[in-house]
Amino acid sequence: MKNIGILLSGRGSNLKAIAENISAGKIPGAKISTVISNKPDAGGLELARQLGLEAVVLPSKGKEREEHDREVAAVLQKHQVDLVCLAGYMRLLSPWFVRQFPHRILNIHPSLLPAFPGLEAQEQAFAYGVKVAGCTVHFVDEELDHGAIIVQKAIPVLENDDEHTLAKRILEQEHIAYSEAINVVLTGKFEVAGRRLVRK
Ligand code: GAR
Repeated sequence: MKNIGILLSGRGSNLKAIAENISAGKIPGAKISTVISNKPDAGGLELARQLGLEAVVLPSKGKEREEHDREVAAVLQKHQVDLVCLAGYMRLLSPWFVRQFPHRILNIHPSLLPAFPGLEAQEQAFAYGVKVAGCTVHFVDEELDHGAIIVQKAIPVLENDDEHTLAKRILEQEHIAYSEAINVVLTGKFEVAGRRLVRK
């Protein structure tokens, strides 16, 4: 069994989608071992408890980045986590943390990277006037929204979209893309050459 640790800061819809896909047998051999939030009021914590998962709060406010990351890593290591999934985790990770889990930290971002890294990517894309938007699941490296891309899903921006309808349709794709990427990584059926991940 492969242990997944989920880090989040918000409502947790990606957590829910991953948990539902595991229950439906779509991510064979995986289980969510712990859910950690750096925000005490994250909706994803309550959701985790409802799903019968361990929900841990490690407040990051006022903490040095690496000091907080060491607390997070200790919980993940206690559960012998094989894969760390950032699911709306709105805090940069320290280089130290990234080194603890080489090619074992994934992030989901609501844009077609390298377009629109950072906060409110869907709003950035909408305001820019793009005709195609989407989401990216990628490995985490020491730069923001930067590591090798595992899965991308693209959708058209519709004439009658606003930033909310666009974000909602991107989120639907996120819920599909994340489980697909987890399967790629857990089955080990890939090679990374430079920035390029090739499925085998
Ligand atoms: C998702 O849209 C995710 O792509 C985004 O936060 C949201 C979390 O939603 N992440 C980032 O912007 C990271 N840069 P959720 O809590 O419902 O899963």
